Amino acid sequence: MKFSFFTESTPPLIGIDISSTAIKMVELADNGRGGYKLESYSMSPLPKDAMVDGNVNDLEKVADAVKLAWKLLGSREKRAALALPAAAVISKKVLMAADLREEDMEAQVEAEANQYIPFSLDEVNIDFQVLGPAPNSPDEVEVLIAASRKEKIEDRIAAAEGADLKVIVMDVETYATEAAYTLVASQLPNSGREQTVMIVDIGAFMMHINVLHDNKSVYTREQSFGGGQLTQEIQRRFGLSLEEAEIAKRKGGLPESYENEVLQPFVQSLAMEVARALQFFTSSTQYNRVDHIVLAGGCAAIPAIDVMVQDRTQVNTLVANPFQGMAISARLKQQQTTIDAPALLIACGLAMRGLAI
Ligand SMILES: Nc1ncnc2c1ncn2[C@@H]1O[C@H](COP(=O)(O)OP(=O)(O)OP(=O)(O)O)[C@@H](O)[C@H]1O
Ligand SMILES: [Mg+2]
Repeated sequence: MKFSFFTESTPPLIGIDISSTAIKMVELADNGRGGYKLESYSMSPLPKDAMVDGNVNDLEKVADAVKLAWKLLGSREKRAALALPAAAVISKKVLMAADLREEDMEAQVEAEANQYIPFSLDEVNIDFQVLGPAPNSPDEVEVLIAASRKEKIEDRIAAAEGADLKVIVMDVETYATEAAYTLVASQLPNSGREQTVMIVDIGAFMMHINVLHDNKSVYTREQSFGGGQLTQEIQRRFGLSLEEAEIAKRKGGLPESYENEVLQPFVQSLAMEVARALQFFTSSTQYNRVDHIVLAGGCAAIPAIDVMVQDRTQVNTLVANPFQGMAISARLKQQQTTIDAPALLIACGLAMRGLAI
């Protein structure tokens, strides 16, 4: 496998998000008119403790879930793009002379990496990407260096290989989110240009915050909050198992008291948590406002969540749907796709790596 956070384009790939609670896959195709078509997607739940803190804890269980997700996907494609959680990657922007040759740049990347990586260089994989001319220095370029411990990469590759898939690209989750966000940005006024947009991905245990200004990431942060809290409360109140609570949450069928006594308080605390993230951001950076909030992750599927967050924060809020405006395979149901879309941002961003669009 070519280890690369930054490979621009490769043949069609399946985007695979190995999250804390599920394996999620997305397969895109070129629609032949400069856009994407959603071929297929799938999700298969992971048992508790299969992944711990973003690391593979039980390889066999993870590989089995990858196998199942691939079967559900119904694709023949075996090449895949995976991502590491941001916490597993050390990244740094440095300046280098603009006229360096490729080999000299590689040598300088190693030298730079040596200074700030707390491990020996043979324990890590390094990759870099020239971002463009340095803002105030015409003779220099900005270079983004990313490094990760080999074992973190190898564990994920092993999980994919255990399901008979081949990993072609290893990305970073935040970059994949940003790639998929470009599709969402086109739904914003002026396509998000010159504006500050806070992407809030609320999964099962974590809230991942990524703020972009003028469509470039300026801030990332994580807060421990997620839909798992709601699932637990459903289990406790109604005496259900984890699996039963998960299904009831998504498909309905809970007693009438659920709406007012369980769901509403959770939605209130979610909105408060987003407001807090917003406040942290504006008080600790040069930016004093956010123009739009984009909600992603499984919790964004809660009906009217955007309205509640907007009421609380007074910031225009929308639910991410990277598939909006895409042609969708006839095998998929439009309505269900819209519900599942916000949880598929990372997998979608990874699938985009396979196509030069
Ligand atoms: N339709 C729905 N309604 C309400 N909650 C939902 C719905 N679909 C998913 N969820 C909840 O969203 C959470 C899972 O979200 P997501 O798939 O984004 O998590 P994850 O990526 O596995 O988590 P993390 O990012 O923390 O690793 C679960 O708590 C799940 O119950
Ligand atoms: Mg997630």
